[in-house]
Amino acid sequence: MGQFDTVDKEFLFRRAAIKWGKWDRDVLSLSVADMDFPAPLEIKQAIIRCVEEDRTPYGLHQGDQEFREILALKIRQRNCIPATADDVLVIPGAMAGIFLSCAHSLRPGDEAILCPSPVYPPFIKNIHLAGATAVHCSLDMRGNRRLDPEELDRLVTDRTRLLMVCNPHNPTGRVLTREELSGIAEVARKHNLTVFCDELYEDMVYEGKHISLASLDEDMSHRTITVFGFSKAFGIPGFRVAYLTIQDPVIQELTDRAHYYWVHADTLAQAAGMAALTECDGWLAEFMDHMRQMRDYVVNRLNGMDGVHCPSPEATPFVFPDLSALGKSSLDITDYLRDKARVIVQEGSSFGSSGEGCVRINFATSRNILNEAMDRIQAALGLL
Ligand SMILES: Cc1ncc(COP(=O)(O)O)c(C=O)c1O
Repeated sequence: MGQFDTVDKEFLFRRAAIKWGKWDRDVLSLSVADMDFPAPLEIKQAIIRCVEEDRTPYGLHQGDQEFREILALKIRQRNCIPATADDVLVIPGAMAGIFLSCAHSLRPGDEAILCPSPVYPPFIKNIHLAGATAVHCSLDMRGNRRLDPEELDRLVTDRTRLLMVCNPHNPTGRVLTREELSGIAEVARKHNLTVFCDELYEDMVYEGKHISLASLDEDMSHRTITVFGFSKAFGIPGFRVAYLTIQDPVIQELTDRAHYYWVHADTLAQAAGMAALTECDGWLAEFMDHMRQMRDYVVNRLNGMDGVHCPSPEATPFVFPDLSALGKSSLDITDYLRDKARVIVQEGSSFGSSGEGCVRINFATSRNILNEAMDRIQAALGLL
């Protein structure tokens, strides 16, 4: 048995306050996007080294220089975006990138288009917090779950300021195709819009090729704020660290905001990020091997249940099965599974109205837990 085949439930209830800690001990939580495994040893050792080096003074507002040099190299080589260290801002988690981009780009009365919708709920929340309106460009949720760039073009008004993209996509697990990305780029260019692109799940791709939107051409690298991070693929969301890049002087404005909002990303968390990027390839390969097996298992089990249709995700730790055939709202299904099966999943409607009918299930756990959760879900749905 490998290191990902079993997890200690007692340990999970103690250490994962949001995903597990708030539930009774008979519950299985497949909800919050935490993984159920300890972080790689290399990351823990990097933090200890950082403490022993007494790295307690303030650091640079844009992030540690050596770290940004390595991030820029990674962005050039892997993402094909022509970044230098000066184009990179280290931030306290990908969430900070969502917030910064909305705070920078939106004013009350503006509109931001979510492309695609449904999407990670804080996208919607941060648009609202900036006083703007969220406009949903929905995937074809009952068909091939693709984005229609013509629909996106129709949704642009003279108040649109920002396009918000999530690729790989939370919650459907889709990897957008070059064709879809080119469609988004064309609309951005035509209407001179800023683009925010969340690529946090780039390390968790099973099939297909993840293409960075900002790599399409020079124009896109100038108008796109891309966010990458470590919290999902390396299991360290409690260490608040991620990074963004844009090849435009606007990076200085974002850095100034970061300075006045939070000074800089936590030094220990930056050490963790550095170790994730430079020392954890082997760990990541083993983790993804496990995740591929869990994905296939969950998709198979769910598709074997009456009234459930579960497309196989190309990336992310999520499946987003469609249960609309059961004739209940996704919130009712979620409540029912919590009460009857004692399994926690997330209602699709929290990702936007196009997620109605679906639930999001996080499969970043052991086969034992998934097996038990699927048995319980199957038994509970069978009673409907
Ligand atoms: C698409 C997406 N962006 C951002 C975040 C937040 O990430 P972080 O913990 O790095 O702030 C999440 C977390 O689930 C996410 O799914």
